[in-house]
Amino acid sequence: MEIKEITLEELDTEKFIAEKLEEISSIVGDGLAINALSGGVDSSVVTMLGHRALGDRFKSYFIDNALMREGEPEYIVSLFKDLGVMVGLVDAEKTFFDALKGITDPEEKREAITRSFYRDIFAKLVKEAGAKYLLQGTNYTDIEETVAGIKRQHNIIEQLGIDPEEMFGYKILEPLIQLRKSSIREVAKAVGLPEEIYNRPPFPGPALATRVIGEITPERVRILRRATKIVEEELSNIGAFQYLAILHNDKVTGIREGKRDYGLQIEVRCWESIDAKIGSPTRLAYDVLDRLAERITTEVSGVVSVTYNITKKPPSTIEAI
Ligand code: XMP
Repeated sequence: MEIKEITLEELDTEKFIAEKLEEISSIVGDGLAINALSGGVDSSVVTMLGHRALGDRFKSYFIDNALMREGEPEYIVSLFKDLGVMVGLVDAEKTFFDALKGITDPEEKREAITRSFYRDIFAKLVKEAGAKYLLQGTNYTDIEETVAGIKRQHNIIEQLGIDPEEMFGYKILEPLIQLRKSSIREVAKAVGLPEEIYNRPPFPGPALATRVIGEITPERVRILRRATKIVEEELSNIGAFQYLAILHNDKVTGIREGKRDYGLQIEVRCWESIDAKIGSPTRLAYDVLDRLAERITTEVSGVVSVTYNITKKPPSTIEAI
């Protein structure tokens, strides 16, 4: 199927919303649809559209895959509650960690996350709810990058030649597929989402898994979550496109209390970009870098080295896997 982009200049936000509400309600009919809300701008818009188009015939879930940032599941569920949308919180920690056990290859990690999400968690939820449709926030850039083979996106299913109905027992609706992020932010504003959502820096579907090099274990995610919190606290006021911490697999020798300490390495990345297709590292002030190193090595136990990525995308990518 040929998907035609609607550019930001072409977008008539109110007309787009009206058409999508109509489309969702006519396709789903008197059936049920569900979605997975991650709190990113794309899935947040889809949640609002589903809620407005279908009312009680729409159910939204936040799948806590244990790879989220600190406090994220509770924060998003309560934010949507304030908007009048009840979101079910699903604890899927064991499913994801079991699926990721022993895997170090980046593509295999993404594959394990996709499989756990669609087959193990979602197929079950869809069945239990009696839903036939899954609403998903796939956008135009996701399709473009996947088709070009740049990166396997977490949410691309049909574009990879997979029939979700045959494989998982439900159909997928993708109301944002013709839009890029800047347009989706406009739609987000228009459907009443608060600025903290429509202006959120991008965050990947597979969450912190894209930032753990080597095996993803509960302990390693816990370490990265702490470092992530520090990086976000220190860099949120810089105005960068995206900023993140990466946990490396290799250890390095450090020194603590006069003794050699073979410890962990955290890499910090901070990006200037418009649409994540290309990017360059932010020229952070040295005292900011200094504070990051100081805080991460004192507040995250086991870390003896903090580095800052100075590579452009390409050849780097924004995330590490
Ligand atoms: P990369 O690492 O490919 O990232 O330069 C480009 C942008 O996409 C985000 N990203 C993802 N988003 N599912 C998502 O929803 C994914 O699997 C995924 N992988 C990367 C990344 O954070 C950046 O903004």
